[in-house]
Amino acid sequence: MENDVIAEIKTRTGIEEAVGEKVRLTRAGRNLKGLCPFHSEKTPSFVVYPKDGSYHCFGCGESGDVFTFLMKTEGLDFRGALEKLAHKTGVELKPRNEQAAAQDRERERLLEACAAASLFYHNLHRNHPSGGQSREYAEKRGLLPGTVELFQIGYAPDSWDALLTHLTSRGFSPQECVEAGLVAEREEGGGSGYYDRFRNRLLFPIRDTQGAVVGFGGRALGDGQTPKYLNSPQSAVFDKSGILYGLDLARPNIRRLSEVVIVEGYMDVVVAHQAGENNVVGTIGTALTDRHAELLKRIAKKVLLCLDPDVAGDMAALKGSEVLQEHAEKLLVPVRGEHGMMGVEQRTQLQINIMQLPRGVDPDELLLEEGGPARWQTLRAAALPLVEHVISVAVHKYDLSSAHGKSEAVGEMALFVREVGDPVQRAHYIQRVAAVLRVPEEAVREAMARSDRGNRGKGQAARKPDQPAGHTPASDGLPAAVDPLAPDEEHLLSLALRYPQVTWMAGAPEAEDFTRLENRLIFETLREAAAGGVATATPQEIRAAAFESLDDVLQPHLLRIISHEEPELFRFALPYELDTRLKRLRQHNDRMWLRQCQLMLMEAQETGDDDTILTLLPLLGASFSRFRSYRPKPSTVFRDSRD
Ligand code: UTP
Ligand code: MN
Repeated sequence: MENDVIAEIKTRTGIEEAVGEKVRLTRAGRNLKGLCPFHSEKTPSFVVYPKDGSYHCFGCGESGDVFTFLMKTEGLDFRGALEKLAHKTGVELKPRNEQAAAQDRERERLLEACAAASLFYHNLHRNHPSGGQSREYAEKRGLLPGTVELFQIGYAPDSWDALLTHLTSRGFSPQECVEAGLVAEREEGGGSGYYDRFRNRLLFPIRDTQGAVVGFGGRALGDGQTPKYLNSPQSAVFDKSGILYGLDLARPNIRRLSEVVIVEGYMDVVVAHQAGENNVVGTIGTALTDRHAELLKRIAKKVLLCLDPDVAGDMAALKGSEVLQEHAEKLLVPVRGEHGMMGVEQRTQLQINIMQLPRGVDPDELLLEEGGPARWQTLRAAALPLVEHVISVAVHKYDLSSAHGKSEAVGEMALFVREVGDPVQRAHYIQRVAAVLRVPEEAVREAMARSDRGNRGKGQAARKPDQPAGHTPASDGLPAAVDPLAPDEEHLLSLALRYPQVTWMAGAPEAEDFTRLENRLIFETLREAAAGGVATATPQEIRAAAFESLDDVLQPHLLRIISHEEPELFRFALPYELDTRLKRLRQHNDRMWLRQCQLMLMEAQETGDDDTILTLLPLLGASFSRFRSYRPKPSTVFRDSRD
């Protein structure tokens, strides 16, 4: 009776002790108070009610009992929390049934075998004469002794039976070693025989979230040997599609930052941690799966995918992000301005961005370079939502000022957009692509249809032959295409550049008012520069400072905006001018947003998606009244030109 067990565990565990292990609590009457572990705050709004065995945070709304607390703070599932608390309180958990119990015992055995193997390999790597070559290789890859220790990196000797002999002497049967994926069985020949799976390789023990070794990845000690990496086979304890390498170490950091970076290689994870980037985890030669999403969704809000930088990598990222999003909780929210587009997003708890490294550079190489960690931070901050990333790649790859370049870009993005599974998102992407390339949406849809036809029967996305390295960038190295929204934005931005006080005056624009990414970045940089020089700097100095601290791909754009003719304004006219331009921009943005809502409502009606309709209607109402507020009430005296 699991329910009785739960009740029993709850009575035996004081919520105040369980929470008290992680949060410093002070008494407040009958209850206790502390700083909420689920969001960051300076004054305590997290309350524990010992009488109910529950907690609630008035800051972020988290609440629950000892089980949810453990699940959330340690990233456990219910079963994990149950087992942990049962163990702690001495409550006996009856095996669900005998078969499950037998399975549990077998699993235990296999885990013990893996742990023993890991220790064996690690010791060889650290101390044994035979480990010389492996130590040398680890050193060559930049691994420090502390890192080798932390990840328990090992060496599988160049022998057919070293591990087998070791494990059998420890009481494991050869069959158990096979089931644990450590040893293989000879197939040919009469004689029954077993041999070590990993030979002469640098070994990365793969641990589950509890830190138990469940498998290994073995790197050849040089290049040119195949396979480069040998992984444990699927087994009762190892399923690589359900594991993120390094998660056992990264988990507390991911939770703290609410952000995870996903890379593709063992070495990348290890070196990242060594460089202090300890929220990095790795997939093990598989695509992202729902199980990965499960592992992350309770602890991270933001996922940065750091995958191979090419079209195939983008496709993989698309698939991966769809899987992740599908398995995160969904929320339909209005998005104004963010991601360079307004509209409604099926926002999931997970926000997925692409972190793009320079072509041909792996994370480990980058991080080991002089100044690498700082560069990593820059790239991390520059990560873009997937579609923006794809757009920015295409924008830099093709010459958008020529018709030919534009059509190539449309073609490439169509390939990508048609792979987007969710129709609402797809519609949103089509709009965005059309806006950036300044082509009608129809052109994007047509290109999508073309690539579908061209692809019929092939069963997978057609790939363009790789673009030659020396592509022609847009004339000034910048997205030449201007978003149709941009005139209003740039009109406002140009005012801000001319009169930097616009960034701090009453009624100043928000960064979110700028829907085009470049404009927003420039505005933010300008605002910072202005804040740095409020008392002393002249407008020229502020502009120069902003220009200096701007990424050099954005600099020409800033220059172009500065070159707009701005009328000389009488000082008192500035607030009025600002107000007018900002209103016009907001009105424009709201109009776009209403249009988008309308499209989505129509789509929802067609597909009978009542949830979407119910979510949209109130949003539409709110947005409508804001929209109306831009239109002054009709005058009682003058005739209104609008009538
Ligand atoms: P990569 O080929 O990108 O290797 O494989 P890498 O991580 O950059 O390796 P180094 O830097 O040369 O050591 C990425 C990941 O794909 C899986 C492994 O998980 C690897 O870390 N992989 C790769 C395999 O499983 N088998 C292979 O033969 C190659
Ligand atoms: Mn590499």
